[in-house]
Amino acid sequence: RTLKSYRAWLQYDKIEDIDRKLYLKWFTAIGVATDTKITKSAVNEIIWAAESMLEKTPDINEETLDRTSIILGTYRHIHLEEYGLSSDLLEDVNEEGYVIKTVNNNEKQQILLIGKTDKGILYATYHLLRLIQTKASLEDLHIKDAPKNQFRMINQWDNIDGSIERGYAGNSIFYVNDNITDNLERVKDYARLLSSIGMNAISINNVNVWDEETNIITEKYLPKVKNIAEVFRAYGITIYLSINYASPIVLGSLETADPLDENVQNWWKQKVAEIYKYIPDFGGFVVKADSENRPGPFSYGRNHADGANVLAEALKPFNGIVIWRCFVYNNLQDWRDKETDRARAAYDHFTPIDGEFLDNVILQIKNGPMDFQVREGISPLLGALEKTNQFIELQVTQEYTGQQKDVCYLVPQWKEILEFDTYAKGQGTKIKDIVNGSVFKNNYSGIAAVSNIGNDINWTGHTLAQANLYGYGRLTWNPDLTTEEITKEWIYLTFGQNDQVVENITYILLNSWKTYENYTAPLGVGWMVNPGHHYGPNVDGYEYSKWGTYHFADCHGIGVDRTVETGTGYTSQYFPQNAETFNSLETCPDELLLFFHHVPYTYVLHSGETVIQHIYNTHFEGVEELKEFIQKWNDLDGLIDKVIFENVKERFHMQLENAKEWRDQINTYFYRKSGISDDKNRKIY
Ligand code: GCU
Repeated sequence: RTLKSYRAWLQYDKIEDIDRKLYLKWFTAIGVATDTKITKSAVNEIIWAAESMLEKTPDINEETLDRTSIILGTYRHIHLEEYGLSSDLLEDVNEEGYVIKTVNNNEKQQILLIGKTDKGILYATYHLLRLIQTKASLEDLHIKDAPKNQFRMINQWDNIDGSIERGYAGNSIFYVNDNITDNLERVKDYARLLSSIGMNAISINNVNVWDEETNIITEKYLPKVKNIAEVFRAYGITIYLSINYASPIVLGSLETADPLDENVQNWWKQKVAEIYKYIPDFGGFVVKADSENRPGPFSYGRNHADGANVLAEALKPFNGIVIWRCFVYNNLQDWRDKETDRARAAYDHFTPIDGEFLDNVILQIKNGPMDFQVREGISPLLGALEKTNQFIELQVTQEYTGQQKDVCYLVPQWKEILEFDTYAKGQGTKIKDIVNGSVFKNNYSGIAAVSNIGNDINWTGHTLAQANLYGYGRLTWNPDLTTEEITKEWIYLTFGQNDQVVENITYILLNSWKTYENYTAPLGVGWMVNPGHHYGPNVDGYEYSKWGTYHFADCHGIGVDRTVETGTGYTSQYFPQNAETFNSLETCPDELLLFFHHVPYTYVLHSGETVIQHIYNTHFEGVEELKEFIQKWNDLDGLIDKVIFENVKERFHMQLENAKEWRDQINTYFYRKSGISDDKNRKIY
């Protein structure tokens, strides 16, 4: 806990000299006007931070608030008029919003952290601590903030045996010795990290619910799930469980899990009631059904609305929700079959049943129609559902983007996704406004993402991957923050403000996604990874498989024809403006060319390069850019924490090997296929 890499962005570094005086005066006494568990977490955080930053333990005062320097409370408990503030100060912020205000009360300066609810107090506290850590002045604060998304969720893909599906940072912090952990210290620190970036929901087990995990909703595990829920509750985070759709059969000895069967319906009602006895504020279920061989309603000839609604009915009396994933496609495709297009699947399955889901069901839609590639189209399902609640699902864990061996900062990618204009309700219908519920006036809305943490001491394996979790949280809180703002904040909090440190790390992070894209699969075509584990190049690894992930390279050309005229017609799933843009070779953006079209290697891009020359250029450049990152990192030796320095240095070493392998395999493969040599005569094997 004393290691800097463990503390992540909650460093609370010691503040020296002049700065110390500026901040010390605020930490003599803390006034606490609201008495809840969440407020206590906020107070504890302040105490911890003050001790660490200023070597000062503030007094805590719950009665005579006027003698204190920082006051925490909801607007109901702090008498705003006494501070010259209007009583409707928080009128226009939502339930989780807050105001931070410096006031002069009888010549005494105080900082008020005023929450709409106690969650707002906690978020205000983290905000204040962020200001101090970034050396901002506290003399004249007037901040009003509230999350733009209602649900800000993280999905753990952790299994009870401690392994993590697509985890690249060690084992689970939730499960040890084939059980839920009793040591909740680390879980609590995770809760702190999450709430400091505004997360308010977590599912704690893998969406693939295997045999043992099916029992997580039974008395075998519920007492311990309850303990986990308590830890998160104190940080304003609600917990959710992934369930096995076949539970009524496996756990209840019923003969069916048919959602329209009365016994099944009753079974779920009883099960849900049992869960709420342990966890009164349980959030609900996350469900992966009829997806990659997991059971689901299709087995009984029912659709996904029937499937979700049986759970929703059971959860409704407790205000619980069903988060139903849309990652449904045929994973037993014949590679010879060119009609079936995996990219079409989610839209084809879910648009016909828009409006049939109960209002406590939320559909969770991956950002792209394939699977978290470094580059792919935006899912056309986002925007197509007018009558159904929806989340977008992002992947913080870097399954296809370097697995936390390679640096790949994803905030720029997520920004692009959230800013994408779907045209669903005319120009300007951006993804961010669909998922925040404002476009279709949804009951429930928000963003979920697959976590990238494990029990590695630095949480994320690659220390720079902490920036992805941080950025995910900040962006989910407020998608209008710029990539630059988020990046700078993270660097300041994690490394301090040395100019060179800030400059070099900013450079690496902001360019890393592009670089990763440069040396991996070109122009949006995706995949080309080793099957199964998905790290490193294997151009034909998935080409003749059942997964529906093909590039169709031959001696003439490459790419997936998804056009209406000659291809799978996938482009028609977009609203007309986008459909036309992507369907036409003239207007399709270069970076997505091979996602939408099959073209000859000599096809000339908007950039002026041919496809084949683009492939060579980007692959050579990618490795050179990476060498530049390494140089910039090595320049920081002595300027940053040694453990972090060495960790990243070692990872860069692995990344360089990986990038060279990608470069050489991709270039060689396409040289051999096309017979066209590199204009610049560089080494191809
Ligand atoms: C990807 C990933 C799987 C995961 C699946 C999902 O296909 O490789 O490990 O289970 O996504 O999102 O359900």
